Amino acid sequence: MPDRTLMILGAAGQLGAALADAARETWAVRPFTRADLDIADATAVRAAIAATRPDAVVNAAAYNHVEACESDPAPAFAINCTAVAALGLACRDIGCHLVHFSTDYVFDGLSDRPYREDDPAHPINLYGLSKLAGEWALQLTGARACILRTCGLYGHHRSPSAKKNFVDQIIDQARAAAPLRVRADLTCTPTSAADLARATLQILDRGLTGTFHATNAGHCTWHEFATEILRLIGLPRDIEPLHPERATGKARRPKLSALDTSKLLRDTVALPPWKQALSAYLRVHQRMTNNRERPLCPP
Ligand SMILES: NC(=O)c1ccc[n+]([C@@H]2O[C@H](COP(=O)([O-])OP(=O)(O)OC[C@H]3O[C@@H](n4cnc5c(N)ncnc54)[C@H](OP(=O)(O)O)[C@@H]3O)[C@@H](O)[C@H]2O)c1
Repeated sequence: MPDRTLMILGAAGQLGAALADAARETWAVRPFTRADLDIADATAVRAAIAATRPDAVVNAAAYNHVEACESDPAPAFAINCTAVAALGLACRDIGCHLVHFSTDYVFDGLSDRPYREDDPAHPINLYGLSKLAGEWALQLTGARACILRTCGLYGHHRSPSAKKNFVDQIIDQARAAAPLRVRADLTCTPTSAADLARATLQILDRGLTGTFHATNAGHCTWHEFATEILRLIGLPRDIEPLHPERATGKARRPKLSALDTSKLLRDTVALPPWKQALSAYLRVHQRMTNNRERPLCPP
């Protein structure tokens, strides 16, 4: 039985669940879903940390509803900022390591190269602003914390309130022969939750603190991402580039969301290239789909 205790908050989300899967061999994992612990309740968070006495806490809980933030940002600031500050204080007081996740959306996307950690942040939507406020609040607590900014996450687990990730949406639409229109003017780095979970465990082992960019390697447009998904599942289809003016939604999106990961590489934490990660995800996805479709008794 591992003798180190890892507390995972937001454990039903795609990253939280991937972390719990990846950590079980080397940590005594204590997963907390929102039903177990609402991170916006600072008293409950402090009590749970006192009772669990973790060696490390990973906060994978977040308010991610980018569009909803534009009309009502209060929940985003409560969960992505105020709760993170309270969590930082509670971790500081017991001296445990805290890993927290942030986003490419802290940048405005106007750069002509992938963003480095020390590039000035300038969010262009309220979700990005709430996440940046959370980073700053956490830094001010003095906790032994590591902030990992990531981008374009997809994972096998989905919490009940979350919509399907981009990969699964594209597969569904292709299988339903629905028209496919995807932005070709926005660049991102698709990132596998399983790979990010493994990198997070390395970061915990090395006790890293500070801000790091943590994505799979390389970058592409969302249109190229969708095209690669369909190529890998053997369902090549024409995907119409979605003109920015025809995109729905109030939240502005950064044109370039790619993050430069060289700082993490210098600490010898490397995530695989995004196409390799996507291929690994789709192999597991295929197995899971086949198992679901297999009849329970022979026909
Ligand atoms: N998804 C992306 O493309 C992306 C991109 C960049 C950065 N990130 C960051 O990566 C991290 C992980 O994202 P993800 O994609 O794994 O998100 P996710 O699948 O939406 O999971 C977030 C989890 O947080 C939980 N949660 C929400 N409010 C909570 C609260 N008050 N107390 C406790 N738990 C709460 C949710 O529970 P319920 O389901 O019950 O609401 C959900 O299980 C987040 O910090 C996110 O900002 C994500």
